This record gives sequence, C-alpha cells and structure tokens, in this order.
Amino acid sequence: MATSGLFISFEGIDGAGKSTHIDALAAAFRAQGRAVCLTREPGGTPLAEKLRTIFLHDPMDGLTEALLVFAARRDHLQQVIEPALARGEVVLCDRFTDATFAYQGGGRGFDLQVLSYLEHEVQTVKGQGAPLLREPGLTIWFDLPPEIAAQRLAGSRVPDKFEAQPAEFFRRVAAGYAQRMQQNPQRIARIDADQTVEQVRQDVFATVRSREWLA
Ligand code: TYD
Repeated sequence: MATSGLFISFEGIDGAGKSTHIDALAAAFRAQGRAVCLTREPGGTPLAEKLRTIFLHDPMDGLTEALLVFAARRDHLQQVIEPALARGEVVLCDRFTDATFAYQGGGRGFDLQVLSYLEHEVQTVKGQGAPLLREPGLTIWFDLPPEIAAQRLAGSRVPDKFEAQPAEFFRRVAAGYAQRMQQNPQRIARIDADQTVEQVRQDVFATVRSREWLA
C-alpha cells in the first residue's frame, strides 16, 4: 500500500453526486491509518474561500473568472495541498483544474490556451529537481447526463451562478470533461454516475484499489 502523499480530485457537473463518495473514501483512508486532507476548489484556504464567494455569485467576464479561480488555486496549493503532500497525507480535493477546463473552457467557451498557460504558471512546483506540474495522481470523474443532474438538483437549494445555467451549458461542460479525459487517459477515471449510490460507491473504491492505494 502507498504511504507517500496522494492527491486525488473529484469532478463532474453539478448534481453528479460527488460528496458522499468523497466522505466515504476519506473514512476508508483514515481507517487504514492515513491522515486525510479533505478540501475543495475554489476554496480550501481563508483567502480562496473569499474568492469562491465572489466567483460563485458575482457576474464577471471570462478572463476575470479564470484569473480568480486560478488565484484561489495558487493560494490553496501553497498553503494546503503542497504542505499536506509533503507530510505524506492523502489529499482529497472536491474539484481541481479539470473543472476550469470543463466549466470556463467548455461551458463558457473561454480560450483553452490561456487556461493551459495559467495552469502551468500556477501549478509548476520548483523543488530541488526539475520543475514539475502539480496535478492529481488520480481524478475521478462522475459522468452523468445533464438532464438527470438537473432533475437531481431541482428544488434542492437556491442555485449559484453555475447551477442556474441551462442544460446546454452542462452539455458543453460534460464535453469539456470528456476532452480532458481523452488528453489524460491515465490520470482521469470515468465513473458512470447514473447508477445507484451503492454501485457508484463500488466503482469509486474499485478505481482507487486498482492503483493499490487502498486495501
Ligand atoms: P461545487 O463544487 O459543486 O460545490 P457545491 O456542491 O457546494 O455547489 O461548486 C463549485 C462550482 O464552481 C461548480 O458549479 C463548478 C464551479 N467551478 C468552476 O466553474 N470552475 C472551477 O475551476 C471550479 C473549481 C469550480
């Protein structure tokens, strides 16, 4: 079993049902004696949580939106993710950069090259060896048809800026995730989220176990 730091992110359109599975994985890692850092994006630090509130509720143009989410990510990486990985913890992050490519890139149609540039600027870690791009070691993508996600979300709470978008927006977001998966087939594991909670749970655990990260 792995004992060094692990970085796992969780992705999917709004309503795909990530949360319960993230909590279950955290419990399983803790039961194995691992320290778990449970965090989210945008957010995870006092500054990034302030940026999250602005990001989710204030109208703004595409570049401002991209800059804000990457600013939050930079602070989160420096203050929380890098230190936790250095301590050998399991970092479970509810969304990371794939969400930016899916929502800002796919959903909003924002320039993917600019996003790639920002990704490299923000996520390059300069240590003793060659600089490396900090990315999750594994990303679990909960794939759910937008119509079903919309039914699940209907009436559940007051929607934020993204949740209030039409189904067409989420079709583009889903296409954005699919494109990221094509480009990163080793890192991103797709899970069919249109199953019972128990079946999805089994797929999530099987994916993590297949990496020999969980007994
Ligand atoms: P979400 O993670 O779904 O949290 P909650 O379950 O509390 O609603 O909400 C975050 C929203 O932010 C979601 O609609 C996706 C969006 N988002 C982006 O547009 N770009 C990003 O880079 C990230 C991380 C999130």
